[in-house]
Amino acid sequence: MSNAEIGLIGLGTMGAALALNIAENGFDIAVWNRTTEKTTAFHKDAGDLAGRIIPTETLESFVAALKSPRAIILMVPAGQAVDDQIAALRPLLDDNDMIIDAGNANFHDTNRRARHAGHQPFLGIGVSGGEEGARFGPSIMGGGKREYWDRVSHILTAISAKYKGAPCATWMGKEGAGHFVKAVHNGIEYADMQMIAEVYGIMRDGLGMDNAAVAETFARWDKGPLQSYLIEISGKVAAATDLRTGQPMLDVIVDAAGQKGTGRWTVIEAQHLAAPIPAIEAAVVARNLSSQRDARAAAEVMFGAAPHRIAHDVMPLDTLEEALIAGKILCYAQGFGLIEKASAEFGWALPLPAIAEVWRAGCIIRSAMLDDMAAALREDPERNLMMAPKFSNMMKQSHSALRQVVAQGALHGLALPALSSGLAYFDAMRTARGTANMIQGQRDFFGAHGFARVDGGSGHHGPWGA
Ligand code: 6PG
Repeated sequence: MSNAEIGLIGLGTMGAALALNIAENGFDIAVWNRTTEKTTAFHKDAGDLAGRIIPTETLESFVAALKSPRAIILMVPAGQAVDDQIAALRPLLDDNDMIIDAGNANFHDTNRRARHAGHQPFLGIGVSGGEEGARFGPSIMGGGKREYWDRVSHILTAISAKYKGAPCATWMGKEGAGHFVKAVHNGIEYADMQMIAEVYGIMRDGLGMDNAAVAETFARWDKGPLQSYLIEISGKVAAATDLRTGQPMLDVIVDAAGQKGTGRWTVIEAQHLAAPIPAIEAAVVARNLSSQRDARAAAEVMFGAAPHRIAHDVMPLDTLEEALIAGKILCYAQGFGLIEKASAEFGWALPLPAIAEVWRAGCIIRSAMLDDMAAALREDPERNLMMAPKFSNMMKQSHSALRQVVAQGALHGLALPALSSGLAYFDAMRTARGTANMIQGQRDFFGAHGFARVDGGSGHHGPWGA
């Protein structure tokens, strides 16, 4: 029976959720998983959707179940597993059959796979929104030949999240463009999460607020300019109680952050592109540092804990909210700046306004600000987001709050790497005459590297030897 319109390999958390979403949107889907028991259990638990799902036990029967020309989604762990799955599939496929890698692939791998596929259709798509997004509507960022995207866009737009009826799924550009944009999404996600964690630290350690008060504050902020999925879930995490001990859940969770690597890839690429993304870099560093628990415990014994407590009148909650608004704008400005640089470097012509649009719903960084960001980028995609009227006005209102929070954090030993790097970025960006002239002098002094003069010309040298 070959009537499935699309196939999916890999029934892990994301794959199973995506397959149910596809079936629920009216598409017959064939599924295969390396372990047949998982396929059988998935089909058994599919309920009313089972009628649209064709479980298969072998790769051959999976391929045979698909209408031609075939389209197959891979939801397998990024890396070698994707290459292995492609190698196992290709001999069973016709030349016009398409493989779609929907995992969190490194875009360099997707570039390579697209080129290696030659004339055989290959797409790399970033899928954001976690399990809930995959099941009920993710944000989808497509990469590969446009004609390949067009072949399956009716399915991908149908299953995607919708923002006021508009599908949060679009084609970004050739080869790894979609996976690159997804990686930057994750970099921004890291920074957004880090800044929220830093503000949580100020509330907990600085202001002595309990988890319930923290939860109530995030819930209140989620009704204002900071409205976003991450603020919403942070309030819920703070409000949660551990079922085993009855303690606040946050007090039971170890303070060491995991990371599968997408944020790190973003930072590495930004360095190659000389694109300044300090808030995202600070967030990755903070995760690396958080894993050094023993070293941190020893250092606290050695140096003593910082004098964290901050008087409430010195740090009103409104100031914290304003600081987070400023930090968020600066972080997104950095992320879109990186996308703009990559677009030029890799010849992708990435659609910055459309990227902000598909992030408005479904993805982890979905937030109220993104619709205004899309409007600002439509007006001028090459302008730094913080210079757009809407956001420059918000920055004029909120940067002093960011300064106050960073200053008080420093004075009270509260580590605020993402917020403070955001402030440093803002201050550096709004200083027309910086201090890199000293660096040029130093470089020329020890390495005769030459420098430009303010009165004209370049390649000058200083009178160091005189
Ligand atoms: C998303 C998330 C997701 C993320 C994992 C692990 O957009 O749905 O960004 O893709 O990769 O949740 O993230 P870590 O890098 O934090 O491990």
